[in-house]
Amino acid sequence: MCGIVGYVGGKEACDVLIEGLKRLEYRGYDSAGICIQRDGELSIDKCPGRIAVLSERIEGNEAIHGGTVGIAHTRWATHGEPNEVNAHPHTDGTKRIALVHNGIIENYSTLKTYLQDKGHVFESETDTEVLAHLIGEFHDDGDITLELAVQSALREVSGTYGIVVVSADEPGKIVAARKGSPLIIGVGKDEYVVASDASAIIEHTANVVYLNDNEMAVISRDGMRTMTIDNVPVTKEIEQIEWSLEQIAKDGFEHFMLKEIFEQPEVVRTSLSGRIDLREMRVQLGGLEHVSRELVRVRKLILTACGTAWHAALVGEYLFEDLARIPTEVEYASEFRYRNPIVDEGTAVVAISQSGETADTLAALQEARQKGALALGIVNVVGSTIARQTDAGVYLHAGPEIGVASTKAFTCQLVVETLMALMLGRRRFMSQASMERYLRGLSDIPDQIAEVLGQSDTIRQITGEYVGFDNWLFLGRGYNYPVALEGALKLKEISYIHAEGLPAAEMKHGPIALIHDGMPVVFVAPRCATYDKILSNIEEVRARKGKILAIATVGDEEIRKFADHVIYVPDCPAPLSPILTVVPLQLIAYHAAVARGCNVDKPRNLAKSVTVE
Ligand code: AGP
Repeated sequence: MCGIVGYVGGKEACDVLIEGLKRLEYRGYDSAGICIQRDGELSIDKCPGRIAVLSERIEGNEAIHGGTVGIAHTRWATHGEPNEVNAHPHTDGTKRIALVHNGIIENYSTLKTYLQDKGHVFESETDTEVLAHLIGEFHDDGDITLELAVQSALREVSGTYGIVVVSADEPGKIVAARKGSPLIIGVGKDEYVVASDASAIIEHTANVVYLNDNEMAVISRDGMRTMTIDNVPVTKEIEQIEWSLEQIAKDGFEHFMLKEIFEQPEVVRTSLSGRIDLREMRVQLGGLEHVSRELVRVRKLILTACGTAWHAALVGEYLFEDLARIPTEVEYASEFRYRNPIVDEGTAVVAISQSGETADTLAALQEARQKGALALGIVNVVGSTIARQTDAGVYLHAGPEIGVASTKAFTCQLVVETLMALMLGRRRFMSQASMERYLRGLSDIPDQIAEVLGQSDTIRQITGEYVGFDNWLFLGRGYNYPVALEGALKLKEISYIHAEGLPAAEMKHGPIALIHDGMPVVFVAPRCATYDKILSNIEEVRARKGKILAIATVGDEEIRKFADHVIYVPDCPAPLSPILTVVPLQLIAYHAAVARGCNVDKPRNLAKSVTVE
């Protein structure tokens, strides 16, 4: 998720664009850039770091000032590390066409080869530069207008995009288009501001036009034309922005955490995109290709992480042992780094981290490298330290996670681990039929998460009945034991309620002593091989007057007899169930924190990334 802005009007474009970027910074902040069209030339300046770095840098750059047309970008890297070369805007081979892009061009590698065969030379590692060159290719070939060249190029790409394009040869014009990524056009007096969301527009005008998928706009100071990418004119209605700036950044949600919980269907879809092939029934993880031979032959996997990422690692242990039959250990990074662990050449160590900067996880990775292990990463922040210190890895593509309590990164960590286990399992023991069942199950997951999110209000009401209790237990079995741990952590870190997660059968070896009248006990109990066992554990709690809140599989009427409240999740193959069962637990924690008046996005004593020991 990046932030893009475009401007045509009478004002100093550079100021409008920089202000717009500042408003969009929550969408991505690892590098930024700007391009101003003036006197038949395009002037570009870009650099790694936050908007403030770019803003300072362009102060002395004459060429960037004095123009009334331009485009700008704040990046959340997906392809290629955050650095000056990979920052946007990107240009075509002639440097007379520039574009900014938010989204992912899935078939960029095929297009890149086609263009290289035609003599194109690329400077960056990005998918976006390929689109710029493709537009340039059509533009030069056909000697056509910018918008026609953009249309021709977009008909060749698969993936998602929100783009704004400018050409040195067509003064006073910008072209915008979208598919899958948001794009809004602010209609002002003699000026237009194009942006990823209204926060960059609202100070200029409240009149906006929302582009739909496969639609584009040709904008100059005199007016705007809208059409489809097949050049069919479309009439667009001008609507009013009613939200405040803060509301826009949170997409109308009260907190970033809730926004990120509701983003999960979309980000899981993005995390899967281009990685599962339902025709060939296979998984493709580009970031592991150059080590795949070694990986298929590893004798042991060690997954290391902290906090929520450690819970994802625990689910990973079940996935790699069950689906790929690889012996797997899970290590707290803070312990692993000092424990002088047994790591040999046959071992691959996987560091799991949303931020990619957690000090303990980084040190654990360095320890593993010291000992000659194959060092892998499952990371969200592209170009982060952990990502750069691995031999290979997989990015989550979950977009920036602002809420301190990790939610969408966790579900995407589970998705990536599942993809890795399936890829390795299929190359080792798994049958085609099993692979097909799991891949079809995975491709259903985004819609199934959306189904669970539809119950948010019911979950708020149920949570309201228990929010007065200061001690909760979370219990699960198998794949859902780590989910119980995650549910407890979410509740602790944002509502300050003490909660403990345990394997359900462990309870009777001590913690059952805690159960007393009305104490809430959350059972993560989807249908699975140990379902009957978990029903007995529920009985043990009921017998001691604990209150049962069960997460169960749709259609399971049986559990209603035992539980005080049941929250249903759609049915799916057991290894995929944690991706669904965690969502109600995220919502329980969120609603409990709101009910207790806690600062949900900035909980006390916590930092989003723990970069110290
Ligand atoms: C989770 O909600 C917390 N923010 C915390 O436990 C976090 O998971 C942990 O600090 C690890 O962070 P990382 O994934 O960025 O390495």
